[in-house]
Amino acid sequence: MIVLSGIQPTGRFHWGNYFGAIRQYVELQNQADAAFYFIANLHALTTVEDAERLRQYTLDAATDLLALGINPDRATLFVQSDVPEVTQLCWLLMTRTPMGLLERCHAYKDKKARGLPADAGLFTYPVLMAADILAYDADTVPVGEDQVQHIEVCRDLAGSFNHLYGDVFVMPKAKIMESAARVPGTDGEKMSKSYNNTIGVFDEPASVRKAIMRIKTDSRPVSEPKDPESDHLFQLYSLFVDDKRREEMAALYRRGGFGYGEVKKALAEVALGYFAEAYEFRKELESTPQRVREVVGDGTAMARKRAGEVLHRAQAACGIKY
Ligand code: ADP
Ligand code: TRP
Repeated sequence: MIVLSGIQPTGRFHWGNYFGAIRQYVELQNQADAAFYFIANLHALTTVEDAERLRQYTLDAATDLLALGINPDRATLFVQSDVPEVTQLCWLLMTRTPMGLLERCHAYKDKKARGLPADAGLFTYPVLMAADILAYDADTVPVGEDQVQHIEVCRDLAGSFNHLYGDVFVMPKAKIMESAARVPGTDGEKMSKSYNNTIGVFDEPASVRKAIMRIKTDSRPVSEPKDPESDHLFQLYSLFVDDKRREEMAALYRRGGFGYGEVKKALAEVALGYFAEAYEFRKELESTPQRVREVVGDGTAMARKRAGEVLHRAQAACGIKY
């Protein structure tokens, strides 16, 4: 199993990113024959216009991923733009991409439907993503539900390229991340930086506590029994504890006679405890940025080697090598 996934450096990681994606990356690196994880800064360029911010988010993402358990002995960690072979491959794929296929893709379609100006970067976004995947002969691509359409595009492109030129690309499959089920934010909606309802994995403990205290709750009286399953505070608490503690909290909800303030305090304790080790490791990495750069440098070399082989295969197949 060759695993590959990318994550955009569009802000600091929040609980939704961790439980929805990063935690699975860490689990999969231990099951895979090879795992490739990269920071998708070329994709981020379609939304982040501030150069300094993009630079900072990219370095932060690398540091955060290492602190959260991406292990350079098990996974190749790199930055998308450091592998120019991928953009070269992207062009080869582009020449075989029907416009209609891209016109049907959500990100572009939605923007257009809202009457917003779309650029060629957004339009061809799925082709670059296909190149990302095909360049490493990846067969397993862990993604959230929203990216499944892009994996389908990738499979289409790989299929038609192979049909035309012979077996060049490995056919990848999406692996839908189960707990990507939707981590709720402080307002109960899906946690997302676009909704301003996030709690950052590496926020200072005091800000984490503050954010938790601000989580919206209903105004039912303390004495009233409550259904834990439909409560987003309970859903958040459940992310951090084992089944036994989850059941204890559920029982407390059903019994009633407690305040949401108590649950919030409990949530703050378990959440801060859960990330405490990563938080310390992050501080250590922050003080040795050279170490992060070295890991990414080694990852780039590995990634380029493999992408170079695949690119060569594709170029030879379509007549670019002469
Ligand atoms: P955001 O919505 O904050 O912009 P991204 O779209 O950059 O987050 O998501 C990066 C990864 O994290 C994706 O794999 C996505 O599926 C996952 N993710 C983001 N928010 C959540 C959430 N609230 N619940 C589960 N997974 C999430
Ligand atoms: N588009 C993905 C996202 O926004 C990130 C990404 C870029 C990616 N290239 C990829 C994910 C290749 C999986 C495989 O989440």
